[in-house]
Amino acid sequence: MTPAQDSPQFDTGLRPDQLTADRGTPVETPWGIFAVYQTPEGPRAAEAFCPHLDGPLFEGSGRDGHITCPWHLWRFDLTTGLCVDSPENAGCDSKIRCLPVEIGPGGTLLLGPQSS
Ligand code: FES
Repeated sequence: MTPAQDSPQFDTGLRPDQLTADRGTPVETPWGIFAVYQTPEGPRAAEAFCPHLDGPLFEGSGRDGHITCPWHLWRFDLTTGLCVDSPENAGCDSKIRCLPVEIGPGGTLLLGPQSS
């Protein structure tokens, strides 16, 4: 797992068929620890830990294009990063960082660059 040479993207070394529908796959990137999820729209990457109390977001499934934190059930959209639901709407003004994902020439998933 190294930054792609001459590219601001990060090569995860993962192929799409290595992702599981049941949980995210955490990867350490130059922008922090992100998780890559298999979603109906293709692979998505988002911060691996929750902005609430650092809960392990990556342990959830991205199967429906959203990720739900297992600790207090805040739910985030894996494309926009926006919190779309939570018990009693707590934290619904929060957002997780998402990174663009594409398949590189070697067939592995490339992340980033992070937009500002
Ligand atoms: S730690 Fe994720 S919702 Fe509380």
